[in-house]
Amino acid sequence: SDLSPLQKTLLDWFEKNRRDLPWRKRYDPYEVWISEVILQQTQMDRGVAYIERFLERFPTMEALAEADEEEVLKLWEGLGYYARARNLRKAAQHMVAEHGGTFPENAEAARALPGVGRYTAGAVLSQAYNQEEPIVDANVERVLSRLFDVDSPIKSSQAQSFLWETARSLIPKGLARDFNQAIMEFGNLVCGKKPSCMFCPLTEECEAYYLGIVDHRPVPAER
Ligand code: ADE
Repeated sequence: SDLSPLQKTLLDWFEKNRRDLPWRKRYDPYEVWISEVILQQTQMDRGVAYIERFLERFPTMEALAEADEEEVLKLWEGLGYYARARNLRKAAQHMVAEHGGTFPENAEAARALPGVGRYTAGAVLSQAYNQEEPIVDANVERVLSRLFDVDSPIKSSQAQSFLWETARSLIPKGLARDFNQAIMEFGNLVCGKKPSCMFCPLTEECEAYYLGIVDHRPVPAER
């Protein structure tokens, strides 16, 4: 096919390094949504235990919609930012009432749900429905700011516009699910806070590596 070296390398890397994670069993929209919201609160290792517990207690959209708020908050204990848990239940009720109990398949309807922003919408639409919607989290910020030498502060609107546009433009047709997970997982396991450039298959594509400034990307927020 007509993948760029960057796309092909990331997809090949993911195929060899894919971990078994709860939402990768089925890519069910409800399970992807719950998983992504929990992972916004916590590291992968701790997050997986929370995800499994939550999906065991509330296995379907209907189960969550019918839950007592207190029980949802109880399961959330230790994650913090309880508005997220309240929004999950409210959004589930809305989806049961208005969307036949499934996560909406278009970005605009998704983002009208309580607690669903650009990140969560992109994460569910791309992973559950394989739609060509980008996602930019801290993992993707690291990978793209190094590959493309983003020199403005990473949270600035200039950097964020570039990152979201670039993340969108990189998605290979029909491969959004695998590609978005590949770049996130790569940012988690190779291009981390302490990057493993010695073992990185993308150094030839990496502007910051070429310039010897990987440790200075991403540029931290101004303070
Ligand atoms: N961190 C948050 N969501 C993730 C995903 N879908 N894959 C890998 N790491 C993640």
